[in-house]
Amino acid sequence: MLWTSWLLPLLSSSFYEPRPHSTSPPEPPALRFELRHLHAVSAADAHVVFADVPASAARIQQQAPLIKTRTVTAYKPPSFAAHAAARRRSLRLGQSTADFPWDEEEILAPDIEDRETLLELGKMSNNAYVDPEENGWYELGANWTVSYPFGWEPDADGFRGHVFATPDNSTIVLALKGTSSGFLGGGGPTAKKDKLNDNLLFSCCCARVDWTWTAVCGCHRGGWKCDQDCLEESLIEDSLFYPVGTNLYNNLTYMYPTANIWVIGHSLGGALSSLLGATFGVPVVAFESPGEKMAAERLHLPSPPSTLHITHVYHTADPIAMGTCNGVLSSCALAGYAMESRCHLGQSVIYDTVSNLSWSVDIRTHGIVNVIEKILASPWPPAEDEGRQVPVPVLEDDCVECYSWDYGDYPA
Ligand SMILES: *[C@@H]1O[C@H](CO)[C@@H](O)[C@H](O)[C@H]1NC(C)=O
Ligand SMILES: *[C@@H]1O[C@H](CO)[C@@H](O)[C@H](O)[C@H]1NC(C)=O
Ligand SMILES: *[C@@H]1O[C@H](CO)[C@@H](O)[C@H](O)[C@H]1NC(C)=O
Ligand SMILES: *[C@@H]1O[C@H](CO)[C@@H](O)[C@H](O)[C@H]1NC(C)=O
Repeated sequence: MLWTSWLLPLLSSSFYEPRPHSTSPPEPPALRFELRHLHAVSAADAHVVFADVPASAARIQQQAPLIKTRTVTAYKPPSFAAHAAARRRSLRLGQSTADFPWDEEEILAPDIEDRETLLELGKMSNNAYVDPEENGWYELGANWTVSYPFGWEPDADGFRGHVFATPDNSTIVLALKGTSSGFLGGGGPTAKKDKLNDNLLFSCCCARVDWTWTAVCGCHRGGWKCDQDCLEESLIEDSLFYPVGTNLYNNLTYMYPTANIWVIGHSLGGALSSLLGATFGVPVVAFESPGEKMAAERLHLPSPPSTLHITHVYHTADPIAMGTCNGVLSSCALAGYAMESRCHLGQSVIYDTVSNLSWSVDIRTHGIVNVIEKILASPWPPAEDEGRQVPVPVLEDDCVECYSWDYGDYPA
């Protein structure tokens, strides 16, 4: 089909008219996704579970919006086992992962410079917040809204979301839910677990804000001293966050062994998406993620030659994504969060809502619905002024975080 549509202009023109030889390759395809599964983690044993969406619900695929694609270079580990072993050697024996044998691959990824593509991915991330029996379904182009039987009880453990697929199963989108904490309204059963994970991964030192706080790990050594080994141990032993994500991803590759997988998510789900993208070399679009670069380092993830297949999308009035969610009196701290990290992996599409929309920095602007409705749903004039649809993606190369802390070997 692609071939013929490419030929058409040639055939319909006069044979005698010389035509410039086209060197540009055919347009990458636009994809349509249908909702295929729900995923969750059982509270009892942290097992990943899925629920199938009945085929009757798949009729939405006729109307779901198209998502534009482009090719990107990504780096995949030779196997997950090799990756896990390199991580262990780095963590336990201090061995460098610099010579990790990444496989370079060209893969199909979402076209993150297309506004409507970001919009649809944002909507797909949003639906991960709620189950179909709650009222909170955001209408994905009005046409993603379906009702179907819900075969399992969402439990109290903080991790669930959706799996979308193209009708031919060639591309799969894994959508990870963000934090459903109290300050975003609602709260719900997952809030408690999410809070512990947030504070472990995204605070400078165990969410030690001041003496009134109960730190989430015991690595603070007085003043601004923090024991680095202790921090890393706590992450590995107390946080199921990354292992649950890698299990989920591995389960998905088992179900769809030949598929091209993308991972998307909002907030905490965005941060985990990025960690999975850095691990498995798959395209990621993360919305309003707290800085996850520090978490990647604390987890000793081997660092791929490039993480440009990971794209962050956030705006400047969101204190969680900007890493300004700190200080004893901040709204974040008052809600029991210390979200102090601010550096992101990959590239970032940053909407300057503070300058361009005169928004104040406010945790209430963090929600994905806000981002969908107020930022992505209509053209962004500052980008359009430059003949673009979205702001220019930037690298956060000179990013600094937790600069007042002194990390080192400070045994208790
Ligand atoms: C699926 O995930 C579970 C953990 O929830 C893991 O024990 C199991 O090995 C995984 N299966 C596959 C085929 O990846
Ligand atoms: C939903 O699908 C219908 C039928 O294809 C279409 O007319 C309508 O514009 C779609 N709605 C949205 C919001 O995309
Ligand atoms: C896609 O995967 C589903 C399982 O989720 C399977 O039922 C269906 O037959 C597959 N479709 C194709 C075209 O392979
Ligand atoms: C948007 O904000 C940037 C500064 O971040 C400024 O340079 C630009 O002129 C603004 N554009 C509009 C249309 O307000």
